Amino acid sequence: KTILSIVGARPQFIKHAPVQLQLQQYFNAYTIHTGQHYDANMSQVFINELNIPAPDFMFDIGGSKPQGEQTGIIMTKIEEVCTKVKPDAIVIYGDTNSTLAGALIAVKMHIPLVHIEAGLRSYNRKMPEEVNRIVADEFADLLFCPTQLAVDNIRKEKPDRKGVFLCGDVMCDALQLIIDKTTLLFDLPYYFVTLHRPYNTDDQSRMNRILHTLNKLDKKVIFPVHPRTISRLKTYAILPENFPNIHFVDPVGYLESISYQKFAACVLTDSGGIQKEAYMLKKKCITLRSETEWSETLQNGWNTLVFEDIESIPEVINNPCGTYIPNVYGEGTAAEYIAETIFKNI
Ligand code: UD1
Ligand code: UDP
Repeated sequence: KTILSIVGARPQFIKHAPVQLQLQQYFNAYTIHTGQHYDANMSQVFINELNIPAPDFMFDIGGSKPQGEQTGIIMTKIEEVCTKVKPDAIVIYGDTNSTLAGALIAVKMHIPLVHIEAGLRSYNRKMPEEVNRIVADEFADLLFCPTQLAVDNIRKEKPDRKGVFLCGDVMCDALQLIIDKTTLLFDLPYYFVTLHRPYNTDDQSRMNRILHTLNKLDKKVIFPVHPRTISRLKTYAILPENFPNIHFVDPVGYLESISYQKFAACVLTDSGGIQKEAYMLKKKCITLRSETEWSETLQNGWNTLVFEDIESIPEVINNPCGTYIPNVYGEGTAAEYIAETIFKNI
């Protein structure tokens, strides 16, 4: 049988790496790279370092587009591939516009749909990701949930929903592919920061407040800057040299990202994936958001949401964490379970 996975944004290459390894055992496993992320350090670097087979189909959709246009172009191109390949199932990951495009084409072409990282909810429909998740889950035939909470979210919406599986998180599987290769990359001690959510980056005064707060922290800050954020800093004429405590660098590879997190004094982020990685690495995290879909991380202070009161960050950093609950995101066997379960059910 033929299976077609759709990836396109940075975290999706990482999630796909362990899954593709397993899918190949059971299927003719094709991959589409939608081109949503196209810079080498946002896409190709992960394909190289995680030994993902080169995508079979790669779209050139161009950068910087409104949501609808971006999703529409990706849909058009996925439809063409599906007409040619006639897959027996489509696999989508997470909650990006590439995920949404894949979900809509699958349901319209009557192709069984598999959603990996199903059941997540932040209950904030102003975030495009929340809308994408809801649509993906609605149309998925097989829903692979990373946590019990994700399963519960699906059950709350539809108590009799079929095809829901608790499998652990494929990002735990991915982490295990490289954890033994991590090394110290920066002088200790330091904080690790990433920011790319529009509500942090697309508001000039908020962006400035965040940078001023980071600049005053008691340890150096290493900050790989997402392309969206780079472009906003340029637009606002915010100059890195005005923030000498912050070490601004280009986006880094996955091994570097994990290495930085592993040795950091604390992780500060608005990323979904990094909240989980910090947790799995037993690292305290501060999330610059008003809510999170990864609420397991909040238990016992391992992750703290800071949104309005940016200036409270230095104090929150020093709050101690309580008991650590291990294996919240599984034990690194999600991909194997997913591939086998798809094989049995498609
Ligand atoms: C997207 C996802 C978000 C995910 C993030 C992961 C949606 C709605 N958002 O957000 O859920 O957390 O990816 O990183 O799907 N750009 C480049 N080079 C690149 C990629 C992007 O310059 O390789 C710039 C472009 O100007 C683009 C902007 O970044 O307009 C935003 O990219 P886009 O993919 O639309 O959204 P992200 O903010 O990356
Ligand atoms: N990541 C990376 N390099 C970076 C920043 C992040 O490799 O410079 C990795 C990070 O370790 C995690 C994933 O990218 O595995 C998270 O992606 P991102 O924050 O872009 O998206 P989100 O998870 O918020 O959707």
